[in-house]
Amino acid sequence: MGGVTAFGILILPFLTLIIIQSSTEGATPADLQREINLRNSDGPYIGVVIPNLFEMNPLLHSPSFLAEFPYIDFGGRRFRFGTIEGKKVILVMTGLGMINAGIATQMLLDLFNVEGIVHYGTAGNANPSLNIGDVTIPQFWAHTALWNWQRYGDGPEDQLSLEADGDYTREIGYLNFSNYTTDAKLRNHDGNLLNSVWYQPEEVFTVSGTPEERDHAFWVPVDSHYFELSKNLEGLNLESCLNSTTCLKPPPRVVTVHRGTSASIFLSNAAYRRFLREKFDVSPFDMESASVALVCFQQRIPFIAMRALSNNPSVSPESIDASTFLPLSAANAVRVVAEFINLLRSVKVVDVSVSH
Ligand SMILES: *[C@@H]1O[C@H](CO)[C@@H](O)[C@H](O)[C@H]1NC(C)=O
Ligand SMILES: *[C@@H]1O[C@H](CO)[C@@H](O)[C@H](O)[C@H]1NC(C)=O
Ligand SMILES: *[C@@H]1O[C@H](CO)[C@@H](O)[C@H](O)[C@H]1NC(C)=O
Repeated sequence: MGGVTAFGILILPFLTLIIIQSSTEGATPADLQREINLRNSDGPYIGVVIPNLFEMNPLLHSPSFLAEFPYIDFGGRRFRFGTIEGKKVILVMTGLGMINAGIATQMLLDLFNVEGIVHYGTAGNANPSLNIGDVTIPQFWAHTALWNWQRYGDGPEDQLSLEADGDYTREIGYLNFSNYTTDAKLRNHDGNLLNSVWYQPEEVFTVSGTPEERDHAFWVPVDSHYFELSKNLEGLNLESCLNSTTCLKPPPRVVTVHRGTSASIFLSNAAYRRFLREKFDVSPFDMESASVALVCFQQRIPFIAMRALSNNPSVSPESIDASTFLPLSAANAVRVVAEFINLLRSVKVVDVSVSH
């Protein structure tokens, strides 16, 4: 909601810089500003934040999405407009990893009049009771690669570097490398020079807080209303077949789950996936969601993420090539997003009629 005013007050100095770039592509600064204002007067929008092209393309080609032109190119990103199931949306592709995801989400929120963010994509699976193709909707997200790497020789009772200053904590827990020595007899005996990494919460600076006064967050909840709404999607029929002969068994389903996690790490390692599951009770893991969650949390914008599981740690080596069902998973994630936005729209209509 703050998008329009925030744009005027906060972004203008920043804008001048980027506009020079845009003008080389034809649009003058005034044109661009006018286009953004025009779009914002037509809002608010649901922001749809998408990691990569292969995840965005099924949405661009979905009958649920009606595109409106022109899109707005800004700061190396393309903001696409349209409706999903009749609800106004802005789409933005982030690119791979936590930094890109955070940047794209922050730009979207700074520039445009956005009432909520729906993030979707594919993910790895850490939960043995789920299957490839299932679309997971976690209630909490954490970034699990902000670490304090303990010096060799120190143990769980020793303070971490800078812990006394309140910068780091031993509250969340750690991974001890010597626990992963293949020879079980050697585990936890002589140790490992890599010792342990301790998980840390992110520093957060919320819009409603005092600037430069940090808070901390590890588990970031998705919006509670969005999460409740998403439970209605659990019966949704998803596509299970790539073609007439290649199908997912059992057929994929939509599941709300406890937690998901993200880091700028492509994770094919089964031991670490098991650790994440046992330590943090996560189901999907990916490279962007927790970043989008953190930005929305700081900006106080409702957020939810839907991630279709596209590879599984319980099978090792993987019996199915992880990439085989990727297009199907991406298409199913789009299906779930469209249904969710449809629900969001119908709930809004009910709210309005109640208030009259
Ligand atoms: C190491 O493994 C042992 C035995 O499996 C387990 O009890 C302990 O919690 C593990 N320690 C860490 C730091 O993961
Ligand atoms: C990790 O394991 C080593 C032994 O391999 C031990 O000396 C050290 O104290 C452990 N650290 C933690 C944090 O558990
Ligand atoms: C179905 O897709 C699989 C995986 O891409 C492929 O190996 C198979 O040949 C396809 N079958 C048909 C009938 O197109």
